[in-house]
Amino acid sequence: MYKKLQVFTKTTNFRQATKLVECPLVKPNDEEIRVKNIYAGVNATDINITAARYFTDGKLPFDIGLEALGIVDEIGSNVTTTLKKGQPVLALNGAGFSEYVYSSPKHLIPLPELKPDYLVTYVNGLTASIALDKAGHVKAGDKVLVTAAAGGTGQIVVQWAKHRGAYVIAMTSSEKKAEYLKKLGADFIINYKTDNIDQVLSEKFPDGIDVVWETIGGDVFSTLFKHLAIKGRMVLIGSITTYSGDQGHGFVDVSIPNLHTKLVMRSLSLTGFMLMNYREHFQEYFGQLIPKVHKGEIKVAVDLGEQTSEGKFFGLEQVVRAEEHLHGGKNLGKVVVQIQEP
Ligand SMILES: NC(=O)c1ccc[n+]([C@@H]2O[C@H](COP(=O)([O-])OP(=O)(O)OC[C@H]3O[C@@H](n4cnc5c(N)ncnc54)[C@H](OP(=O)(O)O)[C@@H]3O)[C@@H](O)[C@H]2O)c1
Repeated sequence: MYKKLQVFTKTTNFRQATKLVECPLVKPNDEEIRVKNIYAGVNATDINITAARYFTDGKLPFDIGLEALGIVDEIGSNVTTTLKKGQPVLALNGAGFSEYVYSSPKHLIPLPELKPDYLVTYVNGLTASIALDKAGHVKAGDKVLVTAAAGGTGQIVVQWAKHRGAYVIAMTSSEKKAEYLKKLGADFIINYKTDNIDQVLSEKFPDGIDVVWETIGGDVFSTLFKHLAIKGRMVLIGSITTYSGDQGHGFVDVSIPNLHTKLVMRSLSLTGFMLMNYREHFQEYFGQLIPKVHKGEIKVAVDLGEQTSEGKFFGLEQVVRAEEHLHGGKNLGKVVVQIQEP
């Protein structure tokens, strides 16, 4: 038998939504590969999924967990693949909070080593790189403002924007996170708990910001919109402050007076971005991100909860605590749960 988490109640409260279940550990079917899952990635949007807002047909119970990282355990008899038993892989199948994952080989990405750092190459890394390139059209010399900059996605956004030659303004909530962002190469830090965002941007960047990476929603959205430069692009990635609560779709409309006029007269753009609408770029960008993580050209902070009072996130029972850690804004880098020993 093996264990997995499933959603039994549709709500953004992850603790109430999920239960651990046991399943028989059967052989993979002829077309599938079974992966022994060692590490699972935690994402801010997991609570949108438990609420059945997207990525599920909503039929209870349903599986949960966008990212699994493990080793090939058994290969179905009709599968033609170069993957061998023991090969580390990233599994993209939406059932990552599970001790074993059954997957078509086309949803397995081979990795050079078994290390949790590679979890950032999927939801975080693909979103950071594809959204900056294809939606933000970031170019050398642009001023790019990154919200939640020290989180799983933000840490890659900062580095990708630097890699493109941009000047990076990183927003975060603590000195410890600010120190990490300086090490990643951020040029200017705003601690929104102690600084007034509006005032700092008016004083330091009177000509405005070229690209805003917006993941917060609400007042932060409207404040940052005010500071877009002529031809500025705001890339709408998320709205973490409005995900909890079970009404609506997780986003709350932000009212900007005279929006039409501002967009036209200042040649601004607001571009929404959802990673799953950009699947055609996944192979190309995995091909860039995985070697960069391997060579250390992209630095990765992984938060396995070791600094928390209850210690490391180990075992499926700890996924709830890891989700609450992220949604409490306590994480530095990518939140990861070690599911079991290799
Ligand atoms: N559209 C897409 O395809 C896509 C893909 C990936 C991620 N996203 C979005 O990107 C954002 C980051 O996701 P992630 O999974 O990488 O999470 P994360 O950044 O690792 O963690 C969330 C961070 O958000 C910040 N935060 C600000 N206000 C918060 C609040 N009220 N409650 C909790 N945290 C708050 C915290 O950082 P500070 O302490 O620095 O404030 C926290 O560490 C989310 O909005 C997510 O939905 C969207």
